[in-house]
Amino acid sequence: MRKIKLVFTRDIEIDFSDREKALKQIYEVSEKGTSYPLIIYGPEGCGKTSLLKQAVEIFREQGFETFYINPLQRDFIAHTDVQDLIKRFVEILSEAVGVAQLKLASLAIFVVRELLTRWRRRRIAVLIDDVFQAVGLDKAETYVKELLGLIEHPPASYDNIVVIVATSEGVTRERIGRHRWAILRPIWNMSREGFEELLEKIPGTKPSTDDLWMITGGNPDALRRLYQTNWDINSVVKDVITSRKLEALASSLNDEEKKWLIEAMKDPDTLFVRERLGLLKRLVEANLMIDTLPERTYDEWIDQHPPERDPETGVGRYVAWQMPLYREAINILVEKIRK
Ligand SMILES: Nc1ncnc2c1ncn2[C@@H]1O[C@H](COP(=O)(O)OP(=O)(O)OP(=O)(O)O)[C@@H](O)[C@H]1O
Ligand SMILES: [Mg+2]
Repeated sequence: MRKIKLVFTRDIEIDFSDREKALKQIYEVSEKGTSYPLIIYGPEGCGKTSLLKQAVEIFREQGFETFYINPLQRDFIAHTDVQDLIKRFVEILSEAVGVAQLKLASLAIFVVRELLTRWRRRRIAVLIDDVFQAVGLDKAETYVKELLGLIEHPPASYDNIVVIVATSEGVTRERIGRHRWAILRPIWNMSREGFEELLEKIPGTKPSTDDLWMITGGNPDALRRLYQTNWDINSVVKDVITSRKLEALASSLNDEEKKWLIEAMKDPDTLFVRERLGLLKRLVEANLMIDTLPERTYDEWIDQHPPERDPETGVGRYVAWQMPLYREAINILVEKIRK
């Protein structure tokens, strides 16, 4: 399989690395198909978009009509000889931002219908990235149901339709998880091995692998941010505090909640009790944590699952910090509050 090139920074391109198990799982899907849309969720910046774009290559090579659509970033990749459909994508890109986002999300559904009914294609893969923010979180359920409809009640017969959606929105996951409309599978940050492979491809002198692992937990986007600031951890942490409006979050907490938050820094599972679930929900909504992690079995996870518990990188059995960097940001705020 051709490995795609990923833009790490403006001056560095890196070949898609590691994620061997995930690629194998996608091969399996291309052979067996799915009865439901597959929704892959995971920490922000863990590599979901990169994986979908690499998956495009797998489906293309397997002879699928393949579409990757990212409404939020107004990005698409189309491998089809139906020029008419490609033209539609190109036309939409010239529209105003909000309009284009919504139209791209609808087009993802439209192309499947068109390919089945008008063009009589029988192998179709549609990979949709970051779509829930584009359609609005309240419409996420309807959108997924429509995708399921295409697979369950197709307007024409087919051999294999694959629909994969990637999201980092914990909130939508909760809504969709209530229904039996999709298969939800988490993906985690890179494994230590994969992370080391990535590190080797980055030029120049770097902090030690252990130090980088302890702050990123294997999150490739965090690594990129550190590289861009010339490995200035403090400035990246400060940026997280400002961009996530964490000061507002911290000042909204009462004394008891602050105590719970401090405990959660050592062990995130301490939030998984009834009276603390409200706080956990807020941390999930702020995309700082992920909750209700499934069992650590092969099938429950896309790619390698994190350990059952790893206090160093903030992973608990049920609840985990998306990456240690966020925990560090909270830590600094809590210190401030204490003073
Ligand atoms: N498998 C990989 N091999 C090499 N680099 C990777 C890989 N995965 C991710 N990266 C690097 O990390 C960056 C962030 O990854 P990506 O954008 O795929 O994450 P994401 O999970 O989609 O993030 P977001 O939650 O913000 O949408 C990529 O631009 C790329 O440079
Ligand atoms: Mg992405």
